[in-house]
Amino acid sequence: MSTATPVTNLPALPIDGTPAATNGNSIPTNDAHTTSDSQPSNDINAYLRRSVHDLISLQGRTIVITGGARGLGLAFAFAIAEVGGNVAIVDALDKPHEHFEKLQKDFDIKCKLYKSDVTDYDVLKATFDSIVLDFGRIDGLVTAAGICPDEPFFKRDPKSVARCFAVNTLGTYYSAQLAGAQMLKQEPTSFNKRGGSMVFIGSIAAYVASKGQTTSDYCSSKGAVVSLAKALGVELAGTGIRVNSVSPGYMMTDMTLDLCNRMPWLGDIMNNEPPMRRMGDRTDLKVPVVYLLSDASAYHTSDDLLITGGIHAGRLM
Ligand SMILES: NC(=O)c1ccc[n+]([C@@H]2O[C@H](COP(=O)([O-])OP(=O)(O)OC[C@H]3O[C@@H](n4cnc5c(N)ncnc54)[C@H](O)[C@@H]3O)[C@@H](O)[C@H]2O)c1
Repeated sequence: MSTATPVTNLPALPIDGTPAATNGNSIPTNDAHTTSDSQPSNDINAYLRRSVHDLISLQGRTIVITGGARGLGLAFAFAIAEVGGNVAIVDALDKPHEHFEKLQKDFDIKCKLYKSDVTDYDVLKATFDSIVLDFGRIDGLVTAAGICPDEPFFKRDPKSVARCFAVNTLGTYYSAQLAGAQMLKQEPTSFNKRGGSMVFIGSIAAYVASKGQTTSDYCSSKGAVVSLAKALGVELAGTGIRVNSVSPGYMMTDMTLDLCNRMPWLGDIMNNEPPMRRMGDRTDLKVPVVYLLSDASAYHTSDDLLITGGIHAGRLM
């Protein structure tokens, strides 16, 4: 937290609504933790007091991560813990990846895994209720639970298609509704005056068909996730809840590594399709997700961050 004294003494300007009361021409007093998040601010000098370090902190906040027992979601859990956030992981797996134990051991934060199913609203609601009982609040949500069937369009069985949409799209929708309801009703704190931040994990597949894979339902389910972030960001803007998505390209996880080992030609595509000529590493997503969850992105909503090594912009010949 920055406690530096402002070097100038400019009067607040009415750039963002009614000017705050001042005595003479002094700037309104504000400590770093009570300055704006999603609230209008009349403090033109706030930038002098809020350091990058302070803005990116998630100290005291509770972030729910669906699909966080392994893969990308688990990397997000480490990123959040590294900047002081508490983590509630919601996943269908019985046993998390071995790194989950390291997360619990290495950080002085609260961290708990909840076995649940994002496709079953009642079960998921009971899980969110338990999280609120255990953690007291929800300040952020990351929806990483997802599945990716790879089968030709005309062979897709309706039940399997419905399952893909249920996990990827409805699971995101339900999680957002449950987290958002809690964000609206909880008491303000020094670290979160109002609302919260949601980050949906979309995919480059929302924009371009995957080379070497036949993933019609996956692509369309992720298109819906990206659209949902845009719609909710606007609908909830007045509540202090921000909603964005992150759309990764090919990322190296246990699952994609296994895929590449079993189907080397797929590994070839994943490493050579991106103009940057490599798969993404989970490390590449840690800061973007923390940024979107934190006050650093207080004016950022209804957006999709494409982190793809350039695939979304074009393909090399
Ligand atoms: N890995 C990539 O290259 C990549 C690229 C773009 C987008 N994504 C997206 O990122 C997200 C995470 O992918 P990943 O590579 O880490 O996959 P992963 O399979 O390693 O992780 C997904 C997690 O979701 C959980 N899950 C699945 N169905 C669930 C359900 N019904 N309820 C609760 N949890 C459930 C799984 O148990 C698993 O732990 C997915 O949405 C995926 O579509 C991944």
